[in-house]
Amino acid sequence: MSSRPIAVTGIKPSGTPQLGNLLGMIRPALALRERYDAYYFIADEHALTTVADRDELQRLTDEVVATWLALGLDPERDVFYRQSDVPEVFELAWILSCVTPKGLLNRAHAYKAAVDANKATGRTPDDGVSAGLFNYPMLMAADILLFDAAVVPVGADQAQHLEMTRDIAEAFNRTFGDTLTIPEALIDADVAIVPGLDGRKMSKSYGNIIPIFASPDDARKAVMRIVTDSRPPEEPKDPTTCNVFSIYKHVAPPDDVEAMAKRYRAGDVGYGEAKQRLADVLEDQLSAPRRRYEELLADRAAIDAVLAAGAERAHPHARQTLDRAKRAVGLSR
Ligand code: ADP
Ligand code: TRP
Repeated sequence: MSSRPIAVTGIKPSGTPQLGNLLGMIRPALALRERYDAYYFIADEHALTTVADRDELQRLTDEVVATWLALGLDPERDVFYRQSDVPEVFELAWILSCVTPKGLLNRAHAYKAAVDANKATGRTPDDGVSAGLFNYPMLMAADILLFDAAVVPVGADQAQHLEMTRDIAEAFNRTFGDTLTIPEALIDADVAIVPGLDGRKMSKSYGNIIPIFASPDDARKAVMRIVTDSRPPEEPKDPTTCNVFSIYKHVAPPDDVEAMAKRYRAGDVGYGEAKQRLADVLEDQLSAPRRRYEELLADRAAIDAVLAAGAERAHPHARQTLDRAKRAVGLSR
């Protein structure tokens, strides 16, 4: 094992990967490879909390694998695996559950949101809430702690999960001695919340996404649906409050971004044209990875081979940390 610090992050295959995933997480995570040993994984066990169809789960898993690979993940250099291929995650999760206060899980945003929605509609608080949804943050803590992550690159919506991971690791270390590495969240403030078509956070749960690898036609159609105000082209506009510009600034070359900001302020561009420029730059930047993505999706055997090799590479570190934790609690000598 190398002596560089470790970065760990995962995406759950619960929907088609969207631009917010790319800009908020995948791109910053891939940039970390220069300074960290990178562990990237497909959180398929987490997806099981929402996807209840085997074919759908397989298809989405393939899509997430192909997305990472098409965008530049190098499975020879980075450790890239599927969560369910590393059962140590699950063993550690149980051990962690025994030092995790139930009250901590009660406070998780996703669980609280489900309870609040039930109360608001007169149902019993836990109606439709699976134990998997409730325990979600603990499984996530196991993902992170198993690999001694120093940092975890994520979007802003994951901040609470990282706080909980730290709390769980600290509780473990207090009880059983210094065993687990306390991780830090790495949240890139600039791209923490990429807006979707309706201006809310882009999220597959809101149905407001631009898929990373939509066909050029579909991507352009989605871009044309981005919500703007009704100022005419000649009226000066503030680019920082415009949903079109908020995506454009992350994908266009810096000089073009600056020029576009000037045109907004000068009343020299309409939203229709700004949308066309955004669609152009997406096409420009994503057409080569899209070809690679499509090739990969057509070759399931290649995807399976990458995942099998990745599991092999993840295993030694996983085994080592799990052994350490088992010795600390007395499950082994
Ligand atoms: P979704 O909200 O579409 O379900 P996920 O929860 O699967 O997305 O998110 C995977 C990763 O991408 C997380 O680290 C998350 O914080 C990040 N992410 C998702 N949507 C956005 C967004 N609109 N802006 C910034 N980051 C995002
Ligand atoms: N909960 C994360 C999400 O919804 C996915 C995830 C699972 C994750 N385990 C992780 C992210 C460990 C970072 C590290 O996006």
